[in-house]
Amino acid sequence: MTETKQDKKPIILSGIQTSGKLTIGNLIGAMQNWVKLQETHDCYYMLADLHSITVKQVPAELRKQTLDVTDMLLASGIDPERSVLFAQSHVPEHSMLTWVLTCNAGMGELARMTQFKDKSKQHADNINAGLFTYPVLMAADILLYQADLVPVGADQKQHLELTRDIAQRFNSTYSPTFVVPEPYIAPIGAKIMSLQEPTKKMSKSDENDKATLFLHNSDSEIRNKIKRAVTDSGSEVKMSDDKPGVSNLMTLYHIATGKTYAEIEAEFEGKGYGEFKPAVADAVAEYLRPLREKFTLLRKDEKMLKAVLAAGADQARRQAFKTVRKVYKKVGFIQL
Ligand code: TRP
Repeated sequence: MTETKQDKKPIILSGIQTSGKLTIGNLIGAMQNWVKLQETHDCYYMLADLHSITVKQVPAELRKQTLDVTDMLLASGIDPERSVLFAQSHVPEHSMLTWVLTCNAGMGELARMTQFKDKSKQHADNINAGLFTYPVLMAADILLYQADLVPVGADQKQHLELTRDIAQRFNSTYSPTFVVPEPYIAPIGAKIMSLQEPTKKMSKSDENDKATLFLHNSDSEIRNKIKRAVTDSGSEVKMSDDKPGVSNLMTLYHIATGKTYAEIEAEFEGKGYGEFKPAVADAVAEYLRPLREKFTLLRKDEKMLKAVLAAGADQARRQAFKTVRKVYKKVGFIQL
């Protein structure tokens, strides 16, 4: 990112947790979008490893998965020459700004966060304070880089609203300091549902492995999961609210082949699920194979993956440091 002032592009920041394996939903809903945004924006893409430890992690697994996610982002087209790709834990300013923002966030507003309520139920044995202050760390992630736009899924919109509130409050208490970020709403992408319960979203943390297509799954795993996907009564291949299973498979087929829903309906007219499911299975396996092959190739070079993160951390720190220095001065810490 060596542009001059005049051709300054809007700044994007987004983050992805490293506490799970990536799914086809992440690819369609986030990663492909991130790749496109590189053409028109200055992008910071962050591995949110500090966020990951708000739920219990096995340290060796966390290390491995952070490199896996780095690799998958590179394989999908994130270009470290154009975007800043870095891990949150490599930039100490995230923790530094979080503390100051924590002192500018209310217990009441944090207690209203629906993700906190959901996660407290999910992890009743580990309701740590980090789960509670999670959105403040996320606000620091965004405000450190003076991001104009933040691509987030629906589940994170409340956190972005809170980020805006904190930024505005800080700006009016101390003087303008932070850009107040807007949510970036991606052009409506397809929503991918569970293969086993197609009325709920496909999730990386589903207990049933058959419900989810992971980006690291082999051809035969992908084929089997799709062939065993839950379909609906009847036999017609048709997009319809009362056919959530078939509609979901049609979405996957559409993504994998680029065919429209009308074309797909015509293709399988009078043919039934018996022919449809294997066709979807083949198409999706074909679609994901190049990404997985690239991932596997890059994964052999851990030194390269770490070098990418090191360069990203250097670049990120340069900006993050500037923001923290300003903030520390404004709140009254002595500058030596
Ligand atoms: N909390 C986000 C999620 O789970 C990840 C994240 C962390 C993030 N920091 C961020 C997303 C900053 C956008 C901006 O999906």
